[in-house]
Amino acid sequence: MIMEYIFLLGFISCVCAQSVFYDSFTGNVLTNDEVKVHIKKNTTFWCVNEVLPCNPLEGRRVDGSCNNLKYPTKGSAHTPIRRLLPAVYDKDFEPRKSKSGEPLPLSRSIRTGVLAEGRVPDTRFSQMVPNYWVYILGDVISVHDTVNYIRWKPYCCEEKGKTDNACIPNAIPDDDPVHRFSSIRCLNLTRPESFQSRGCLKNDTTPERISTATPLFDLSHVYGNSLKTLKAKGRLFEKGLLKTEVENGKIWPPSAKTKDNLCLLNQLPHETRCHDTPETGANSVLAPNLLVIWTWRFHNRIATILSAMNPCWDDDRIFFTTRDIVIAASTQIYFYELMTTVLGYDNLVREGVISPNKGFRDLYNEDIQPQISLEFLAVQRWAHTIQDGNLKMYDANGNYLKETKIANLTLRTGYLVDNLEYITQGVFRQPAAKFDYIVDPDIAETGLGPHQLAADLLTSDLSKNRYFGFAPYIKYRQLCSGKTYSTFEDLIDVIDPERIELLKEKYQHLEDIDLLTGVWLEKYVRGGSVPVTLYCVVVEQMIRTLSSDRHWYERPNRPNAFTMEQLLEVRKASMAQFLCAVGDTVTEIQPLAFFLPGPGNEMCSCSQIQKMNLLPWKDWSCSLEQTDNLDTQV
Ligand SMILES: *[C@@H]1O[C@H](CO)[C@@H](O)[C@H](O)[C@H]1NC(C)=O
Ligand SMILES: *[C@@H]1O[C@H](CO)[C@@H](O)[C@H](O)[C@H]1NC(C)=O
Ligand SMILES: *[C@@H]1O[C@H](CO)[C@@H](O)[C@H](O)[C@H]1NC(C)=O
Ligand SMILES: *[C@@H]1O[C@H](CO)[C@@H](O)[C@H](O)[C@H]1NC(C)=O
Repeated sequence: MIMEYIFLLGFISCVCAQSVFYDSFTGNVLTNDEVKVHIKKNTTFWCVNEVLPCNPLEGRRVDGSCNNLKYPTKGSAHTPIRRLLPAVYDKDFEPRKSKSGEPLPLSRSIRTGVLAEGRVPDTRFSQMVPNYWVYILGDVISVHDTVNYIRWKPYCCEEKGKTDNACIPNAIPDDDPVHRFSSIRCLNLTRPESFQSRGCLKNDTTPERISTATPLFDLSHVYGNSLKTLKAKGRLFEKGLLKTEVENGKIWPPSAKTKDNLCLLNQLPHETRCHDTPETGANSVLAPNLLVIWTWRFHNRIATILSAMNPCWDDDRIFFTTRDIVIAASTQIYFYELMTTVLGYDNLVREGVISPNKGFRDLYNEDIQPQISLEFLAVQRWAHTIQDGNLKMYDANGNYLKETKIANLTLRTGYLVDNLEYITQGVFRQPAAKFDYIVDPDIAETGLGPHQLAADLLTSDLSKNRYFGFAPYIKYRQLCSGKTYSTFEDLIDVIDPERIELLKEKYQHLEDIDLLTGVWLEKYVRGGSVPVTLYCVVVEQMIRTLSSDRHWYERPNRPNAFTMEQLLEVRKASMAQFLCAVGDTVTEIQPLAFFLPGPGNEMCSCSQIQKMNLLPWKDWSCSLEQTDNLDTQV
């Protein structure tokens, strides 16, 4: 009966459903005339969301729409990003001034003043920590802000930059510890793209950041954010598979057919590979690039088993069931493995972010809209301090082979063709940079490699904080702790005395302190390894996500919900299991791959790593045949 109902609805929507056009910022329905104005101005891509009528029984849409049935556009790209605290700007929406009325001290001067440069490996965490972290952030924010100043507006440090309002280069002070020896006095940067800069909102309103990623943890950086692009660039339309290519004995996502691609740093003629996946960000920095390749293969591993097990399922059904499993497994790893590693397991259980039980849970509240917070995106840039600048490569037995610069691999997918297996071995054998107050010199001075004469990723992060109009750091402290702060010394509960001194050297007044600077210098949360305000902002977002995402994988009542047996298999997803399934030459690994191998976490054969069994997805109505000969484990 229910099947008939779904079929009927699907049928109706095919024949006579008309899509509705919404204003991407307000979420209000647009009239035909209003849509025409956008078409004429060529602003439909950013300012208009086209949504087919929502069907409450339908699964997670690729474009994220209809996640919230009351607000159909929320959950899709180009929708507003939340602010935890109201914006604070100077006039004309320029960065706020210090309390004395002077501009705040230069971002570069603060960065070099409060964070030392050096290389200290961590003794606990592997490279997989920063890698997966960056990958998951790439699911909820697009990379166009970086592409903007290296490709679209490459002149911000030149004369021309002075006349382009989008250019906001960072000045380098004369006494800079590195550049007093060079002639470089400027670092490229462009203003964050906003609904205003894209022509969706008037310029005399508070800047609102705009993103091409969906604000949900739905792997939009793998599957893309529109059904159309996924169909054109991703799907094979056979057995639920994604399109792949084989090169140098390895399986890859499809490659770009034009030479004018985003892999600007490929060393021609030898390095030519560049992905043509639904989301171009896949070619960007190394970590998401690796994970997109692996996730692409993971999808096909699962689809292949489902299709062998359920011969009567069509391509569509296999594809979307597989996507649902892949998204759930990746979210399981993010919430239950990565975040418990860095935020602390007990902390997350206490906050209600994760469940101590393996069964279902349902915190859905349709009055909470699926959105990401601007602060969530910004404070996690702190993770730049735990990024090692060197990439070490190993053979399958763990013998060290060679190293290169991570920054040199940005926009350079071609390098992976000969080296992916050695890099893969490194992600779980090489330590992350230590969680301390020290930043790797490469990240701080050459962050984008040969793209730029110089680039300090943390200076850019801090500077963008100001253009986002964040309230002073102490307002966030107050939000998180309920305490008020009136002198620098009051910060002693969260910042060590010597680092309070550093703050006093750089900022005249307590209220001048920038959000990110505070986060850089904070003590770590008890039971975890991250700054207290970062912890607070991230936990807020995680709880919001699981209460606002109607398709959250732990819900028993969502459309096409997992059965209990299926959920229990998803719970077995782990980074070690994932790398054993799809990582090149991975035949042994430590069970906790976010931690370095060592006592209690010894390397073992992949056959000893717990796997996900897909048998609970067997459709007995399709074939009663046993699956004795089929390995249903991933
Ligand atoms: C229209 O907008 C799209 C998306 O921003 C852009 O790629 C394209 O170049 C624009 N076309 C014209 C004619 O400006
Ligand atoms: C706002 O300013 C930007 C450039 O700074 C411009 O491209 C855009 O068209 C302006 N938007 C409106 C609505 O005037
Ligand atoms: C990284 O790129 C820079 C600039 O092109 C180059 O000088 C350097 O040798 C490269 N380093 C490595 C290890 O490839
Ligand atoms: C600014 O960007 C352009 C284009 O990417 C680059 O050629 C130039 O070296 C950059 N300037 C600095 C100071 O890094």
